[in-house]
Amino acid sequence: MDRIVITGGAPLKGTIPIYGAKNSALKLQAAALLSADPLILENMPDLADTRFMTQLLTTLGVEITWIKETRTLRMHAAEIGSTIAPYDQVRKMRASFNVLGPLLARVGHATVSLPGGCAIGARPVDLHLKAFEAMGADIVIEQGYVKAAALRGLKGAEIEFPFVSVGATEHAMLAATLAQGDTILKNAAREPEIVDLADCLNAMGARIEGAGTGEIRIKGVTSLSGATHAVVPDRIETGTFALAAAATGGNVLLQGARFDHLQALIKLLRGAGVEVDAEARGLRIKRNGGRIQPVNFETEPYPGFPTDLQAQAMALLCLADGQSRIRETIFENRFMHAPELARLGAQIAVHGNEAVVTGVETLKGAPVMATDLRASVSLVIAGLAAEGETIVNRVYHLDRGFEKLEAKLAGCGAQIERQREEQ
Ligand code: EPZ
Repeated sequence: MDRIVITGGAPLKGTIPIYGAKNSALKLQAAALLSADPLILENMPDLADTRFMTQLLTTLGVEITWIKETRTLRMHAAEIGSTIAPYDQVRKMRASFNVLGPLLARVGHATVSLPGGCAIGARPVDLHLKAFEAMGADIVIEQGYVKAAALRGLKGAEIEFPFVSVGATEHAMLAATLAQGDTILKNAAREPEIVDLADCLNAMGARIEGAGTGEIRIKGVTSLSGATHAVVPDRIETGTFALAAAATGGNVLLQGARFDHLQALIKLLRGAGVEVDAEARGLRIKRNGGRIQPVNFETEPYPGFPTDLQAQAMALLCLADGQSRIRETIFENRFMHAPELARLGAQIAVHGNEAVVTGVETLKGAPVMATDLRASVSLVIAGLAAEGETIVNRVYHLDRGFEKLEAKLAGCGAQIERQREEQ
């Protein structure tokens, strides 16, 4: 198993290109199932998760070509070969569950393994299933599988989500494109990835309005065509490198990053004493000397502070000149990085969904291990800022969501390398 070895202390300086968003790409891949024509995605990230999705789509009969040089993924679901998404494929990655809606909309039935919980919480899919039921699908859960059928097609419906869910909003939107009649999604998620999915579906001939607001209206159409769509830049990758630059006291241009998608993070960074500027080519992050200032924040649905940047922001605040309070409101168990950060000398007290971080002047390198993607990268950030050597184990978590992480950081002067762990 690989591990990452970091010798901390070097300020990051240089330019980091930002790739397409994982959490958008995965749903865009599922959208390929809705059309018999090819869907071509540009600016695709090449990640363990997008590869899992490619494998699953291949199992379902989609022809897929990846053109590495141009970062382009061509998916052609001329015919659906199978409507079964097996446990072994869905268990590897929860977003695989998103093939259910498109299969149901296009073929009228699907059998998809329940995704189950994961390290950050229980993560049920009840809102997804209720949305499909509202659209007229019959759903039974048997032996760990969701069996859904709408043999005469899905019907448009008014669906009000009891709380905001990114996945349920996207999933309902995917399915509603081919439903008969109008669908209204109330209390919809407003993340940039929702807008990206709507833009792609509209390019395929869907009729979606209101994506990016709390109410999305979809007029069903009888079929969708192919399209070419560029995946939105990854705001979580951007935020991660921004926090790394801030933690190391660096000066980095995040090339291609979207300033407008990161308002909550920019507010936090500025509050912490970090300079953030929008430039023609992207976002510049600068911190020249001076201690980080403490900041209180809580995670919220977009446009609030993203839960997917909470661990990385905590790593930065470990070095603040004072006490910061962090509240996690999206997932019930998303502070697993706190005890690992403590190995580097961080002072963090966790009480339920609140963490109190008392900043220290320096962190010191140590061997660490994490249980999910964003937690792992928070340890990389802390390691980059710490004195001495940090070894991050269980690197496979990082590979799920960060492409060329070490190369991008090393390109900015970080001393970081991947090693094969001795057997
Ligand atoms: C997406 O997960 C992202 N994943 C997550 O990123 C991200 O943390 C999350 O949105 C919030 O921004 C992908 O896009 C692949 P939700 P999702 O539905 O859609 C509860 C990462 O690191 N809920 O908005 O699963 C749920 O348990 C990952 O890249 C239900 O109770 O998130 C959570 O507490 C981690 N029932 C809350 O809602 C449901 O049917 C919000 O979850 C659905 C969700």
